[in-house]
Amino acid sequence: MLDIAPPVSTRITDRAAERDRFAAIRHQSEALAANLSPEDQAIQSMPDVSPTKWHLAHTSWFFETFLLMPLAPGYRAFDPAFAYLFNSYYEAVGPRHPRPARGLLSRPTVDVVAAYRDHVTAAMLRLIETAGDDVWQQAAPLIELGVNHEQQHQELILMDIKQVFSMNPLLPAYQAPRPHAAARASSPAWIEFAGGLEEIGHAGNGFAFDNEGPRHKTWLEPFRLASRPVSCGEYLDFVGDGGYRRPEFWLSDGWACVQQQSWQAPLYWRCDDGEWRIFTLSGERPMDPAEPVCHVSFYEADAFARWAGKRLPTEAEWEIAARDVPLDGNLADNGHLHPCPETSEAAGLRQMIGDVWEWTASPYIAYPRFRPASGAVGEYNGKFMSNQMVLRGGAAVTPADHIRITYRNFFPPSARWAFSGLRLAEDL
Ligand SMILES: [Fe+2]
Repeated sequence: MLDIAPPVSTRITDRAAERDRFAAIRHQSEALAANLSPEDQAIQSMPDVSPTKWHLAHTSWFFETFLLMPLAPGYRAFDPAFAYLFNSYYEAVGPRHPRPARGLLSRPTVDVVAAYRDHVTAAMLRLIETAGDDVWQQAAPLIELGVNHEQQHQELILMDIKQVFSMNPLLPAYQAPRPHAAARASSPAWIEFAGGLEEIGHAGNGFAFDNEGPRHKTWLEPFRLASRPVSCGEYLDFVGDGGYRRPEFWLSDGWACVQQQSWQAPLYWRCDDGEWRIFTLSGERPMDPAEPVCHVSFYEADAFARWAGKRLPTEAEWEIAARDVPLDGNLADNGHLHPCPETSEAAGLRQMIGDVWEWTASPYIAYPRFRPASGAVGEYNGKFMSNQMVLRGGAAVTPADHIRITYRNFFPPSARWAFSGLRLAEDL
């Protein structure tokens, strides 16, 4: 049996509610794949992208490995070979199929993966309903972790299939176009914050990933934040001003990416006879200058900010600024699956939640006094704390009940296939 300590502080006493939430999230993953053919679900277009059916199987492997095998008496693995195929990165659990080769798995088929999901879901529902109190105390935090893990993979399913479809000259649409209200991006307002000694990080009883804590003090100098994310129109001014040809705006590693990968604009932008078009999950269409720019790397976000004479906010600035912001916005449940222009006239910060993940100037490192959980689930977040940058706020493909003000997403600074944009900051 694995030594698994719950990595999160969470208190779950209502089994019926947890059962319903578990079943709904399992169903939601399958609904996301319902638009896709078996051929769509098997493709891996680059090493960072996983096939849809791999996500569907891996999220089941997580429940099988960390809950059913250790805690459900008499549970039989659906197929012992899946432990090798669908382990993502857990060294403590054993060897695994190499990540860049996930697209070579024509077997198991989509149908077999669906049967695997049903097998695991049924066994999990039995566990939730019948576990004795002592087992439930161990199981409940891990179920909550597994459900949140599956929601992360729901976002990955959408990010990844967009990358897969973008490689197809037919530019397939994942879903029909969703019209959004026309808007003209006005200049952003600037919202001022006094700074001082503040506290950031998760506290309290609700679920959070281990990397969101411990809550701790941090010192902030006075700063201000733009009221909305940078728009496509503003970013186009940077492109038009030679932004991708002028090394003075770029970090050295970023400039190397520009050269090596021939970056000339954000990922999924294409200039067709002088007209900029962008590829979305609803197919290709003209770029809307008012919508937030998306699919830029940290390097591009940082270069844009330098060109604009501003900077990226730190994650502490972002979190302090966001602490009174309501937890709603253009998230996956809206169905757009693409950032939308801001139409609200309200004063203050807008679009902090949803639309685009916002790159921060903060490296993804441990908060003071952070300790990963013991055992295999301790590998969930802690071991990735180098060479990545933090993003905040969720995007149009993030499940609505998955985002928090304290949520720390992270990607390498050259990554562009996440729904990543930016908001400008400035010292006062
Ligand atoms: Fe995973």
